[in-house]
Amino acid sequence: MVQIDRLCKSYGSFHALDGLNLSIEKGELFGFVGPNGAGKTTTMRIISGLLRADSGTVMVDGVDARRDTRRVKEKIGYMPDFFGVYDNLKALEYMEFFASIYGIEGREARRLCLELMDLVNLGDKADAYVDGLSRGMKQRLCLARSLVHNPELLILDEPASGLDPRARFEMKGILRNLSEMGKTIIVSSHILPELAEMCTTIGIIEHGKMVVSGTVDSIMAGVNRQNPLIIRVVGELDTAVRLLKESPLVANLSMAEQELYVSLQSSTASAFSGGIQTENLLQEEEEEAALLTALIQGGVRISSYTREKGNLESVFMQITEEQEAEE
Ligand SMILES: Nc1ncnc2c1ncn2[C@@H]1O[C@H](COP(=O)(O)OP(=O)(O)O)[C@@H](O)[C@H]1O
Ligand SMILES: [Mg+2]
Repeated sequence: MVQIDRLCKSYGSFHALDGLNLSIEKGELFGFVGPNGAGKTTTMRIISGLLRADSGTVMVDGVDARRDTRRVKEKIGYMPDFFGVYDNLKALEYMEFFASIYGIEGREARRLCLELMDLVNLGDKADAYVDGLSRGMKQRLCLARSLVHNPELLILDEPASGLDPRARFEMKGILRNLSEMGKTIIVSSHILPELAEMCTTIGIIEHGKMVVSGTVDSIMAGVNRQNPLIIRVVGELDTAVRLLKESPLVANLSMAEQELYVSLQSSTASAFSGGIQTENLLQEEEEEAALLTALIQGGVRISSYTREKGNLESVFMQITEEQEAEE
């Protein structure tokens, strides 16, 4: 649905996007995560045809978004990260105003607008003044507005920012519904755990580059690979230590009481250079299995063979820190 290659955008001499790559399949609920200033809004505005890129390609459902901004705008519903001021406009009037931009008027417009307001739980706010709505309601109204032309792709820039937990929960439920209705959705946030539980895939952007992307599981697996294997041995450790030291697969070995901490050669290579490679993960699993077999065949008695698992927050910190360390 969305294919971005080597996208660059500078503001003056500042490189906001620095060769960004991104690929999103139809039907995905894609979480676009990165710290403030990473380039999320810039990317989303370029996809939506609202901002000019300097170089690179952006394809949206087969349409060149940099050339054919009119056609791409038909396909996309864009929700900006700010909400304007609408003096003396009621919620339904606000909706009908945006419908009229797409040539939808009269009864049909009213029916559609009420339906969309229902969809975002604002069915009872038709006559409420926009400026009097709570922040959460405004965000949802803004979302409803981005749906008037029935776009296939939704681009939502931090829709949950500034909302209290209850309003955030409600927003997430609505995004899930839209996803189940078949919309492809790109939703940004500077908070990873917020997106992880609801998104099918995630991309992490930092300094205008995509650091890693894929399913939450594959990203977690890539990070967990960097943690050592923890092997718990029953009885004497000597044989196990000797076998591990002899093994060409082992990069690092340390021990504490009955536990051995083992890093494999293959997983010490950065998990994120060029993104997560599924083949690498499979190869590492093969190696783990081979190591376990060798230990057992060598007569070592093992009571557990595990790997410490990171949580999402630590993943995000680890990934963004790695980037900073490289500079
Ligand atoms: N119009 C602009 N002029 C100059 N710099 C800008 C402009 N818009 C954004 N930037 C800078 O580009 C970088 C990326 O911004 P943005 O895409 O808004 O990031 P994000 O949405 O991830 O917070 C930031 O450092 C920001 O200060
Ligand atoms: Mg932004």
